[in-house]
Amino acid sequence: MLPRRHRDRNGRGKAAIRRTSSVKVNGVPFRSIFLDEDGWSVRIVDQTALPHEFLVSRLTDVAAAARAIMEMKVRGAPLIGATAAYGLALALRADPGDASLARARVLLDSTRPTAVNLRWALDRVSAQVSHLPESERASEAYRAAAAIADEDVERNRQIGEHGLGLIRDLASRKPGDAVEILTHCNAGWLATVDWGTATAPIYLAHDAGVSVHVWVDETRPRNQGASLTAWELAEHGVPHTVVVDNAGGHLMQRGQVDVCIVGTDRTTAAGHVANKVGTYLKALAARDNHIPFYVAAPSSSIDWGLTGWREIPIEERPGAEVARVRGRTDHGRIETVTVIPPGSQVANPAFDVTPAELVTGIITERGIATASREALARLFPEKATPRGTEGSA
Ligand code: MRU
Repeated sequence: MLPRRHRDRNGRGKAAIRRTSSVKVNGVPFRSIFLDEDGWSVRIVDQTALPHEFLVSRLTDVAAAARAIMEMKVRGAPLIGATAAYGLALALRADPGDASLARARVLLDSTRPTAVNLRWALDRVSAQVSHLPESERASEAYRAAAAIADEDVERNRQIGEHGLGLIRDLASRKPGDAVEILTHCNAGWLATVDWGTATAPIYLAHDAGVSVHVWVDETRPRNQGASLTAWELAEHGVPHTVVVDNAGGHLMQRGQVDVCIVGTDRTTAAGHVANKVGTYLKALAARDNHIPFYVAAPSSSIDWGLTGWREIPIEERPGAEVARVRGRTDHGRIETVTVIPPGSQVANPAFDVTPAELVTGIITERGIATASREALARLFPEKATPRGTEGSA
C-alpha cells in the first residue's frame, strides 16, 4: 500500500521505502531519503509541499542535491548531512576526479551554514574516498552515504530510548494524565532519516502506551512546527496541539507543560545549543517556570572543535520568508500572501543559541549528559578535544 497522496513529480506512484523504518506515513514505514530503485538516484520527501501534499522528488546530480538543501526541500541538521553525502556520491558518479570532488564539496558546503552535520558528512565521505583510485570512488561514496543514513536511524532510536526514560519518569508522577511535552521547529523524522531526534522519545512513548500530548510551536517564519511536526504527529496518531510561538511562556506558567524537548543544528563541546530561532526564548521561559529543558543531540550535531557560542554561524535567510506566508485557501489552492506593509524592513535570523546554563540535559545516543564540556567528554571521550585547543569560550 502506498502512503496517501504519495506520488512523484511526474504523478507516478512509487513504492515506499523498503529498509527498516519505524515512523509511519498513513501506516507505511517511510524514510525521508532513500536510494531509488535504479540504484543510483536519490529520493527525498519534498518538505516544501507538506502538509498539503506528500511528494517524493528525485535527485539526479549534485546541483539538485545542493538546491534541495538550499531551498529547504530537505532540512533539519541530520537530513542535511545525509543529503550532502548522497550529493557527493552523485557528483563522483558523474566525474570521479579530484577537481569534481573539490567542486562538489564547495557547492554543498555553501548551502546552509549552521548545521554542523553538513561539514561532518562532507568530511567523512571525502576522507573515505579521496585516497581511492577514481574507478572506486563513486561506489564507496554511495556506501558511505548509506552508512550515514543507517547510522542516523540507529542514533535517533537510541536517543529515543534514553528520552523514553525521562518521559516514563514524568508519567509516573501524574498517573492517568498525559505527559505534556513542548517542542519547537521540526526535529522529527522529516528532519532526520527516521525517528527524529526530539520526536524519537515521543514516538517510542506513544508506541509503548505512555500517554503523551505535544504542544507544537508553529515556528514562524517557515512554520516547520505547524506544517511538518503537526503533520508527522498526526500521521503517527500522536495527540498534539499547534500553538503560536508566543504561547509557550503562558502554557508553562499555567502548569500545562511538563518538559520541553527540542533538536539542535550545532551544539558546542561546552553544551551551548544552536537551534531554530525562538528556542532560546522557550528555554528562558522554562527556566523561569522550573520546567526541564532537554536538547536531543546526536553526536553528528556536536561541534567538538567549538566551545564558545559566538562562533556558531547563524544563517540569515531571505526577508521574504517573514514578509510572506504560504498556505492553502478554502478552495484548495496553494497561495502566498504578504503580511507586512510595503517598504518595511525585514530581518530573518534562522537560528539562535541557548546557553548551556539553560539546558537541563543533552540527550545523545550514548545517554543523557548535563550541558557541560566535562559531561559531554565523558560520554564521547574519543571526540572531545583537550581544553585550550578548541575555539574560544
Ligand atoms: O531551518 P531548519 O528547518 O533546517 O531548522 C531545523 C531545526 O532547527 C531543527 O531543530 C534541527 O535541525 C534539529 S533536526 C533533528
